[in-house]
Amino acid sequence: MPDPSTVHGPEGRIRLMVLHGPNLDLLGQREPDTYGSATLPELNAALEGHASELGVELDVRQSNHEGQLVDWLHEAQEGADGVVLNAAAYTHTSIALRDAIAAIGVPVVEVHLSNVHAREEFRRHSMLAAVCLGSISGFGPGSYVLGLRALMDYLAQRR
Ligand code: DQA
Repeated sequence: MPDPSTVHGPEGRIRLMVLHGPNLDLLGQREPDTYGSATLPELNAALEGHASELGVELDVRQSNHEGQLVDWLHEAQEGADGVVLNAAAYTHTSIALRDAIAAIGVPVVEVHLSNVHAREEFRRHSMLAAVCLGSISGFGPGSYVLGLRALMDYLAQRR
């Protein structure tokens, strides 16, 4: 039986939050050479498919606003066992998101569709990486899937 202290979903299922940051609502039309042709609803549908295979419940949200993402990270304290976060451009700028991740005590995996290390210099630095469980970058939508799997493995080992 899973440890109830790490399980928030109904029927004892692990519950993970997936947070998409700014401009990811424009996926599909936004720089498709870099971010691919899948739209955000298509990406989310694929993630839901993987989640049901893994037997995990997902809570998927997108915002263009830094404070909203901070509020959702706070909410994760009560409502999620882990968070897969693509903070998009805020990755490179946001001390507020970094402090929120450090504050909540919920494991967060940083993900990026593109390989941020193979792009402009300013994308090579993450304000968030040091307070995340780990970072996954460059696998397109697969980065999120790997993030979900990494969190599941981490939570399973912690039990
Ligand atoms: C991104 C990479 C960021 O540098 C960029 O600002 C984004 C998307 C990615 O998923 O590859 O908006 O996080």
